[in-house]
Amino acid sequence: MDIQIKSRVKCIDRPVGEVSRLILSQTTREITDMVVRLDADGREIVVPVDGNTSVRPGPEVVLLYPVDRLEGMPGFRRGDWEEVEVAEFAPHLHVHQGEVLAKFPAAERDLSRRRFFFWASNAIGALITLPLVWPVFKYLIFPLYKGFDNAWVRLGKADRLPIADSPVLLDFTRTPKEAYMVNTVKKTAWGVKASPDLLKEVYKGDPERVFKEVDGKPIWENKGVEYIVYSGKCPHLGCAYRWDEAEKRFICPCHLSVFKLNGEVVSGPAPRRLDTLPVRLADGHVEIIDAEYKASEHGKKRIV
Ligand code: FES
Repeated sequence: MDIQIKSRVKCIDRPVGEVSRLILSQTTREITDMVVRLDADGREIVVPVDGNTSVRPGPEVVLLYPVDRLEGMPGFRRGDWEEVEVAEFAPHLHVHQGEVLAKFPAAERDLSRRRFFFWASNAIGALITLPLVWPVFKYLIFPLYKGFDNAWVRLGKADRLPIADSPVLLDFTRTPKEAYMVNTVKKTAWGVKASPDLLKEVYKGDPERVFKEVDGKPIWENKGVEYIVYSGKCPHLGCAYRWDEAEKRFICPCHLSVFKLNGEVVSGPAPRRLDTLPVRLADGHVEIIDAEYKASEHGKKRIV
C-alpha cells in the first residue's frame, strides 16, 4: 500500500488532515502506521495502517470508520521514534529524511536508563582496571610532584669546626632525583661553631630559626644547637662566596656582595642575608637539611 507524504486523509464522514510521516516495522520494513496532522488543531496522531485503510488515486487515504474513532488514537511524540534511511524506499513515495520513522527498541526508549548503564559499566571497568594501571601511573607521575627532600645530610664531624665564630667551608655530595633522572652534585656550605652572641644575632628573628614545608608546617627549629650553617650559594645570583679572615667578612667574587659573620648584608647587590639552613648535631656529626632558596629575591623562597 503506497501511502505518500502529504496525501489527504479522510474518514467515512469527512476529511481530517494530511499524512506528515510514515512509520514502518523494524523487522518487515512494511508501513504499519502513518502520522496524520489534523486540520482542526494541527495536532499529529499515529493512525494504524490496516485493513480499514484504503488508498485512492489523488492521492487520498480513506479510513473506513467515522472521525470519532480518531479520538482514541495516540498523539505523535518524536522521541519515541528513530529515523530510517530514506534511500531504501521506492522513489515514487517522494519521502525526505525524517519523514519515515521506526519504533525504538523498548530498552532504547528509556534514555536515562541507557545513560545509567553507560556510566555504571564505565565505572565498573575503571574499578577493575585501576589496580593494574596505578603502579605505572604512580611511577610516571609522582616524581614530577614530589615534595622537598627533608632528609638530614651529614657534613662531617663536629670537631671540624673547633674554633668559635670561625667559619669553615664544608663540602658534600648529593644525588637528587629530578623527575626520572638521578644526578650527582657537589655542593658546599659554610659551617660555624657559634658563640652565644653570634647565635643571638643570627636568630634574633624567628624566620631564621624555624623552617617550614611549602604548606606552612614547621619541619625543624634551630634551637639548642651551637652550630650555624649557611647555604654555600650567594643569595644574589647563586655564586660561591668565600670567607675573608682578615676582614671578618664573607665576600662574593661575582658582584662583590659583602656579608657579616652573622649573615647580614654589608654592601653589594645581594637582596637578603645569607641563607641559614636547618642544622643539628647527631652522633657527633653536623647534619643539615639541604634546602635551597630562590636567588635575587628579598624573601627566602624554597626551591629545592
Ligand atoms: S652572585 Fe654574589 S654578588 Fe652576585
